[in-house]
Amino acid sequence: MRIAVAGATGNIGRLTVEALVRQGHDVVGISRSLGVDLSTGAGLDEALVGVDTVIDATNAPPLDEAATLAYFRNTTTSLLAAEERAGVSSHVLLSIVGIARVGGNAHYAGKREQERLVEAGPVPWTIVPATQFHDFAAMVADWTEADGVATIAPLLVQPVAPADVADVLAEVAVGAPQGRHADLAGPDPQDLVDMARRTHAARGLTVKLVPTWSGLFGPEMAGPVLLPGEGARIAPTTFEEWLTTA
Ligand SMILES: NC(=O)c1ccc[n+]([C@@H]2O[C@H](COP(=O)([O-])OP(=O)(O)OC[C@H]3O[C@@H](n4cnc5c(N)ncnc54)[C@H](OP(=O)(O)O)[C@@H]3O)[C@@H](O)[C@H]2O)c1
Repeated sequence: MRIAVAGATGNIGRLTVEALVRQGHDVVGISRSLGVDLSTGAGLDEALVGVDTVIDATNAPPLDEAATLAYFRNTTTSLLAAEERAGVSSHVLLSIVGIARVGGNAHYAGKREQERLVEAGPVPWTIVPATQFHDFAAMVADWTEADGVATIAPLLVQPVAPADVADVLAEVAVGAPQGRHADLAGPDPQDLVDMARRTHAARGLTVKLVPTWSGLFGPEMAGPVLLPGEGARIAPTTFEEWLTTA
């Protein structure tokens, strides 16, 4: 099959391209650094010629809620319209578990809008909601780290390995559109502060972590809201196994 991966140079997109190439598919990479911009549409029609399926694993820059909504609305609308013009028969969106349960998070508001547009859009679709990735804790600590100190919320999560997410996207992309896929999660619940501490230790970094609900993530994200729902698909790689490669 000819499959386009939007976000092909990103954390998940890169691994998804690798998984698809391993399976012998013809893969088209989409990202601004590869000359295709979903915000302007530049290069998009050319990239989608002959494409059967598009996987959207793009991301938005950190923006306020209104700007994040506008960003996802613009990029998703532009991508879906180009897919319709090109006769693409399946659109696969990587989303996040629990976004309907959490208010007050700009990125989640943008992802809800992205899901809404895909569900109402012209191309048969599959939405794969994934929990936080195994590298999420260290990434969040990195956002706030200054002079060896970082703030981080003690979120309860059930993280999943990036390579496992990529494998599921590659599997879904070659099948028929499914609508909403089961929540995709890793094997075990974790505390985000503990995950960050263990990732830093594995990487030989010394960062003082200050747990807080007054930083990037507030109390609306406390409790079980980010955990996978009933019937979740549990990916195999544990956080501990992933740490050995971190
Ligand atoms: N982090 C988590 O724990 C987590 C959990 C569940 C779901 N997710 C979702 O997973 C998705 C992918 O996350 P990620 O961490 O893999 O992203 P990432 O590493 O930030 O990669 C983003 C990709 O999108 C491309 N991109 C950004 N803007 C673009 C544009 N206007 N046109 C074309 N390409 C564009 C980037 O390449 P260029 O910069 O070259 O354009 C890059 O290839 C996100 O939507 C996120 O919400 C994340």
